[in-house]
Amino acid sequence: MTVTSLDTAAGNAGVPGRPGEPEPPGGTAGGPAGGTVGGAAGGTAVRSASRRAPSGTASAVVGVVGGGQLARMMHQAAIGLGVELVVLCDDAEAAAVRAGATHHRGLAQDPAAVHALAQRCDVLTVEHELVPNALLAELADAGHSVRPHAAALALAQDKLAARRSLGRAGFAVPAFAELSVGDVDGIERFATQHGWPVVLKAPSGGYDGRGVTVLRNRVDAVAAAGSFGSPCGRWLVEQHIDIATELAVLVARRPSGWWRAYPVVETVQDDGICTELLVPAQIPDELARRATSLAVSVVEGIDATGICAVELFVTTDGELVVNELALRPHNSGHATIDAVVTSQFENHLRAVLDWPLGDTSLCAPVAAMVNLLGADEPLDLAAVPQALDDPRVRVHLYGKAWRPGRKLGHVTAVGDAVDTARQAAHAAAAALGSR
Ligand SMILES: Nc1ncnc2c1ncn2[C@@H]1O[C@H](COP(=O)(O)OP(=O)(O)OP(=O)(O)O)[C@@H](O)[C@H]1O
Ligand SMILES: [Mg+2]
Repeated sequence: MTVTSLDTAAGNAGVPGRPGEPEPPGGTAGGPAGGTVGGAAGGTAVRSASRRAPSGTASAVVGVVGGGQLARMMHQAAIGLGVELVVLCDDAEAAAVRAGATHHRGLAQDPAAVHALAQRCDVLTVEHELVPNALLAELADAGHSVRPHAAALALAQDKLAARRSLGRAGFAVPAFAELSVGDVDGIERFATQHGWPVVLKAPSGGYDGRGVTVLRNRVDAVAAAGSFGSPCGRWLVEQHIDIATELAVLVARRPSGWWRAYPVVETVQDDGICTELLVPAQIPDELARRATSLAVSVVEGIDATGICAVELFVTTDGELVVNELALRPHNSGHATIDAVVTSQFENHLRAVLDWPLGDTSLCAPVAAMVNLLGADEPLDLAAVPQALDDPRVRVHLYGKAWRPGRKLGHVTAVGDAVDTARQAAHAAAAALGSR
């Protein structure tokens, strides 16, 4: 998959559009009389979601590979839309299953299970990247609506493929090289050219900082050779970027090409895991416009459908560098539930169904979100009322078993000022016993 489009019109945060045409305000793009929506913007043929739920009680049936917290929050949005969500996972206690989504039992890696899921839904989408890419391509070839399509999802499944593809298309990415696992000399050669420290990554299978490590010198590289595996047998080594701020831009995009970008989010990572975020990002308007424009160009260039989160580094020189892509609802968009007219979860469903997208404008001046991470003991669920003592706070629990470091929920506080919103979110997280 190569990125093909670079010359797209810029989009501002919260501003909708499609290539060359502004989307009308009010979230009705895509369904107007007169059929203003043409074919897919990226050249991929789109099959419409036409099958009906067998019971006749659902407006559509969406199959999701994965049943974790992202599917759980998709299910919350699906309820209002009358969409039946069918989630594929092996665990009867998975977060989305516990929330009442229809459970299709099986593994994401099992072709028979994924085929069977596709059979029972109008559109197939994902909440994680662990489904074999070839399987999704096969399903699309067989006539199923798979959104995002396999070639776009490949860029979220393989960080090397993403670096190559985006770099070739002219987007700024960190300097990088592909190495075999254990190639310490290769790391040293790369560091000689680009300087220590370097960042070593497993190209696939990582999340929340698992699969990412910073190497300061050859001694660290030797240690990594003994301990830092990679499921695909390759390493991605890259230049360590001097990061001033980390941003994420979420864009919802339909197969017909309509899109809406969310206000730019500022994320904070601790040891590779997102701990908190602010929306809108506290950055100059000009930088927010550039970030949004860049994200929309990426999303259109790869013909993404559904939500696509574009993670960006702002360097200490003020440049924007693309980190990674997620082609599904993303942690950086969690505050959209409480702070934006239409959440990322609802717009993901609307987008994959090729339905009109909802407004992505903020409905509060600012929102702060803090992830609830497992500490040395489980969350104190008896403290939920205490966390809710502040009316600006909303609590979202995932119903997952406790493990140290695991994402168990999040809290969001809306407000008029960054400091007070952050304080409120942190106070609620502390009351609940988050790490
Ligand atoms: N080249 C780099 N230079 C400096 N810091 C980096 C670099 N790459 C990654 N990081 C840091 O490590 C964090 C995690 O990296 P990355 O997003 O690649 O991993 P991940 O575990 O796949 O994340 P996610 O949970 O978002 O999927 C980044 O958010 C950033 O803070
Ligand atoms: Mg990341």
